[in-house]
Amino acid sequence: MSEVFTKSMARNIYYGGSLFFILLFLALTFDTDGTLPKRDNRAALTEQVALGKKVWEENDCIGCHTLLGEGAYFAPELGNVYKRFGNSTAAIVGFIKGRPPEGIPGRRSMPQFNLSDEELEAVAAFLKYASEIDTANWPPNIQG
Ligand code: HEC
Repeated sequence: MSEVFTKSMARNIYYGGSLFFILLFLALTFDTDGTLPKRDNRAALTEQVALGKKVWEENDCIGCHTLLGEGAYFAPELGNVYKRFGNSTAAIVGFIKGRPPEGIPGRRSMPQFNLSDEELEAVAAFLKYASEIDTANWPPNIQG
């Protein structure tokens, strides 16, 4: 082995390394692309779930909550709320509907959004849908 590190050796490491990581990147991209459709629960995407996502966005729920770990840390994670509420959309609807308009003094409280019954059912369906996405157990704890 030669004692000096030549320019051509440096070039080979540069090109070889680049090629290796480009191939690795492509392989992982194909793998993700093939795996995601099996995990994203798209079979459960209904019109109602789509409306629920709209309600979710228009009311900026993510401004306080996280969903699957993304969002604000003011209020509980909601990606798992359907399961935490005993697999019940009715319990979610009841909770959102029952927020006192004046808030709860002395603690973080959730606003009363005055959603229609259709919107309530839809946002609950959206949270049920989110809870059934295979996230490989992410986030790792129930607080998000
Ligand atoms: C201003 C901040 C804020 C916004 C915006 C907000 N929430 Fe909340 N939410 C909270 C807080 C705070 C709690 C915890 C309240 C409590 O325990 O009394 C909560 C609790 C909840 C819970 C019960 C969670 C649990 O684990 O107990 C659900 C379901 C929920 N929110 C849904 C929603 C939905 C749907 C929206 C959008 C329409 C929304 N929230 C918007 C602050 C907010």
